[in-house]
Amino acid sequence: MRKPVMAGNWKMNKTPREAAALAKEILPLAENASCEIVLCVPTVNFHSVYPIIQNSKIHLGAQNVHYAQSGAFTGEVSAAMLAECGVRYVIIGHSERRNMAGETDAVINLKTKAAIEAGLIPIICVGETLDDRQAGYTNTLIAYQSVMALTGLTETDVARLIIAYEPVWAIGTGVVASDEQANDAIGIIRSVVGKNFGWDAAGQMRILYGGSMKPDNVSGLMRQPEIDGGLIGGASLTAADFSALVHFGDIPS
Ligand code: PGA
Repeated sequence: MRKPVMAGNWKMNKTPREAAALAKEILPLAENASCEIVLCVPTVNFHSVYPIIQNSKIHLGAQNVHYAQSGAFTGEVSAAMLAECGVRYVIIGHSERRNMAGETDAVINLKTKAAIEAGLIPIICVGETLDDRQAGYTNTLIAYQSVMALTGLTETDVARLIIAYEPVWAIGTGVVASDEQANDAIGIIRSVVGKNFGWDAAGQMRILYGGSMKPDNVSGLMRQPEIDGGLIGGASLTAADFSALVHFGDIPS
């Protein structure tokens, strides 16, 4: 059985003080959740959020990492630095970074290896644009992105990490993939990972859906057999919405 994960991606939102306030609001609401909870906060918020969630079942996550251990990389942060701040999960290859920071599949692979080396759990994002989908490339593209990201990893590494299927057209748009679209895409990812890295690893690896996941669509998505949780942007920024998401099992269908 794969334990569901709900990971909030706060993106570039909340100052350290605002972040601490939101973490305090989320803390009690997360208590009886039946899933793992991760808050991927801006780097400058680690110090204000970590003490609040440290002894709870909520884990600290980062939104990016550099692949090098140290060196002349102005503005970047290494995996060891994240780990020492209490970070346990790190988002890698989010579409906003693929588009705006020019991250390639090769760089995403290096970052994944660096994160694993430091004991972090990568949350690797893959997903197609609307043009890709309309041209019929979705399955080929997400399979390619997944295999490229995991190249060179052991079966044990693959079993522990997380992939987030995030169709770019659904991110921040309010347009959510249908339950079937999300389940089918995640099934494709699991089977290509199984073929390339072993079926045990693919069976254990958690694959999340991301893209306008909200309280009103979470229960349908989470009923799909392939979907192991969510990577949540907008709806992770208010305690009420995020609480509904981490309690997806309580929402009547
Ligand atoms: P969204 O963002 O939930 O606001 O669509 C998801 C993401 O970018 O990870």
